[in-house]
Amino acid sequence: MYHHVKKLMYTVNVGTPDVRFGRMLLEQFGGPNGELAAAMQYTIQGWNCVDDLGRRDLLLDIGTEELSHLEVVGALIRMHLKPLKTEAEAAEADPLLSIVGGGGVALRNSAGNPWTADYLKITGELDVDLRSNIAAEARAKVVYERLIDHTEDPGSIDTLQFLMTREITHMKAFAAALETLEKKPFSVGRLAPTPVLVDEYLNASTGEGNEGDADTHGPWMAMNNLHPVEPHRDGGKGLSVERVKGIAGAEDRGKQDAAPKATTAAPTEELIGVRRLKRKAA
Ligand SMILES: [Fe+2]
Repeated sequence: MYHHVKKLMYTVNVGTPDVRFGRMLLEQFGGPNGELAAAMQYTIQGWNCVDDLGRRDLLLDIGTEELSHLEVVGALIRMHLKPLKTEAEAAEADPLLSIVGGGGVALRNSAGNPWTADYLKITGELDVDLRSNIAAEARAKVVYERLIDHTEDPGSIDTLQFLMTREITHMKAFAAALETLEKKPFSVGRLAPTPVLVDEYLNASTGEGNEGDADTHGPWMAMNNLHPVEPHRDGGKGLSVERVKGIAGAEDRGKQDAAPKATTAAPTEELIGVRRLKRKAA
């Protein structure tokens, strides 16, 4: 059940409206990293999360706050777009917002493209969704940072600073929710990856590039159990695809499976991934 309170989560003040900046701000209203996308992504992930009712609450807390952010950024945009209602020259410069939308906010990004559900990352696998959400907050944070760079209006900067800050708050909460699942590092889903192959870093881009780029042997090739493997083309042994057996056991699911479940959750033994593991074990 939703209830609307007639009060913005953060007070919005705009000195001099700037239609051009208002259009840029639409990125955070109807764009891929915007507040509606965040609200819908977390809320629908939460509705689907019947296997961990604690983290379902987290997803719904943050999804609901994002809807409040949508209202805040919407108010800010509306104030900046005000001249579209009163100044012919401004209105004529943007027929999409002024003629179609009457100078109000629209579910479009800064280039005028309509919002789409394709922006949402909802996998139904809690740890994967949490990783998507951490990345979503990071993207939104840099978008706000860039927007702040394009205005001198103190009221707008103040509001954007608030919204930008909350992205880091949510990132912290999602990261803590992932960490407290106590899954092994790089354990994703139910099936374990193939041993040997999983630790091979293929040096697939070699030679020298036109922009001074070299074949770098960075720490990322040899951390987290990885080791570099040179490609056949360069006289290396390539990936061990011929030498490994493709079937491994189950991943460590951590605390996720031990969490309280909704009455609508499917019994664990009936889940497709679990059935497949049992077939393999038999
Ligand atoms: Fe937000």
